[in-house]
Amino acid sequence: MNTESNSLVSRRGLLRTGAGLLLATALPPLPGRASGSSEYRIVAAAARARLAGAGRLETDVWAYDGTIPGSLVRLRQGEKARLVVENQLNQETTVHWHGIRLPNAMDGVPGLTQPPIKPGESFVYEFTPPDAGTFWYHPHANSLEQLGRGLSGPVIVAEREAVPVDRDILWFLTDWRLNEEGGIASGFGNRMEAAMSGRVGNTFTLNGRVSEAEAFRAGERIRLRLANGSLARIMALRFEGHRPVIVAIDGQPCDAHEPEGGRILLGPAMRVDILLDMQGEPGRRYGVVDDFYDGLSYRLTQLAYDERPPLREHPLDASFDLPRNPLPEPDPATAEHHDLTLQGGMMSGMGAMQGGGMMHGMTGMGRGPVWAVNGMSMTGDGHAGMEPALTFQRGRSIMLAMRNETAWWHPMHFHGHSLRVLSRNGKPVPHRQWQDTVLMAPRDVVDVAFVADNPGNWMLHCHIMDHQMAGLMTVLRVA
Ligand code: C2O
Ligand code: CU
Repeated sequence: MNTESNSLVSRRGLLRTGAGLLLATALPPLPGRASGSSEYRIVAAAARARLAGAGRLETDVWAYDGTIPGSLVRLRQGEKARLVVENQLNQETTVHWHGIRLPNAMDGVPGLTQPPIKPGESFVYEFTPPDAGTFWYHPHANSLEQLGRGLSGPVIVAEREAVPVDRDILWFLTDWRLNEEGGIASGFGNRMEAAMSGRVGNTFTLNGRVSEAEAFRAGERIRLRLANGSLARIMALRFEGHRPVIVAIDGQPCDAHEPEGGRILLGPAMRVDILLDMQGEPGRRYGVVDDFYDGLSYRLTQLAYDERPPLREHPLDASFDLPRNPLPEPDPATAEHHDLTLQGGMMSGMGAMQGGGMMHGMTGMGRGPVWAVNGMSMTGDGHAGMEPALTFQRGRSIMLAMRNETAWWHPMHFHGHSLRVLSRNGKPVPHRQWQDTVLMAPRDVVDVAFVADNPGNWMLHCHIMDHQMAGLMTVLRVA
């Protein structure tokens, strides 16, 4: 075994032995900078996981490196990363590094940016992440089922300078649809669900386990990275007795601000970094509640304070802004304007979408698409022959008016770029926020802008995976 693979093995061993523990507590310090590069070997394969906790039923899953979520990939801003992905599944796969602005050939969309990785084969992803922040990775082949069976994992790109917090914690949140035997329920790609809110699960995990409580000490300042890896579940998190401050959205720092109404909205694929000052009382517990769906609120976990006296007498001074990433500012004066209109789904009344058939239950439903972008439907996952709906000249500033003409929510994800979110329903969006996944409520109109600086064919799709499969997907080209 050569030295390179030796270092891969030891790095992987380190991640494996500590994975659960490290994720549940503080993130590990960065290992030594010996090689100056970040190297990982990630294996996609069948595995078993105890999602409900130790001593409970085991679930057959598909996982990266045998863990749920997959190994934490820690990279450094501006430093080259090399990620070897090995496919030990019995079907083709790829890996998409969600939210990372990388070269098109590394984007992981089968047929569009790379050939799929066949069973038994590997693919080497190499890129230099320009932005520090919270990202994640997942397959982009048969993604409804592959993601739904457990293939996903977090990516943290570390800032060049450490951020002054006591602990940096990640909560990778996922919901699962389990059957009574603890297995993953079958029925992926149910057409009725695809025309409605998608495959929402019945079991919620935090870093791969149902969580009763997470341990904290009074007086701590926490950077808490929240990531929603669910297929379809939108979350609205409230931290009882606490005042979280949002410092980054989708990996991109924004002006620090408290969420509206104290609820942190987290659509599928979104990440939100919050600053949490632990101002509760030693020995007490406070609920973290998700109340997005009317009448279906549940407690995700509790903040459990230990008995120790507060770490410091006074809370740290006012919140802070994270250092900004090097994103190109779009120029409104010269920007090209385009529309992206989302159509279809149940209750759309769209004849073209076979809406009539959809309204009458499962019988007699066609196999045609359910959703469309600008009147065109691309269905399934990445495949050969996807023609771009829009082509932008490289370097141009682009303004997109995104219109949701459907009766459903959609987290719209654009590959290869981060979007400056300008306004929502005519109201300016404050806090200078950038997103790669823009959550749109029914009938929302959202204006976004970006510089088309990354050449290639980039997918744009809804991250409710059933919606993507059923037509809410398109391709934008930067030439
Ligand atoms: Cu996270 Cu195209 O996806
Ligand atoms: Cu959608």
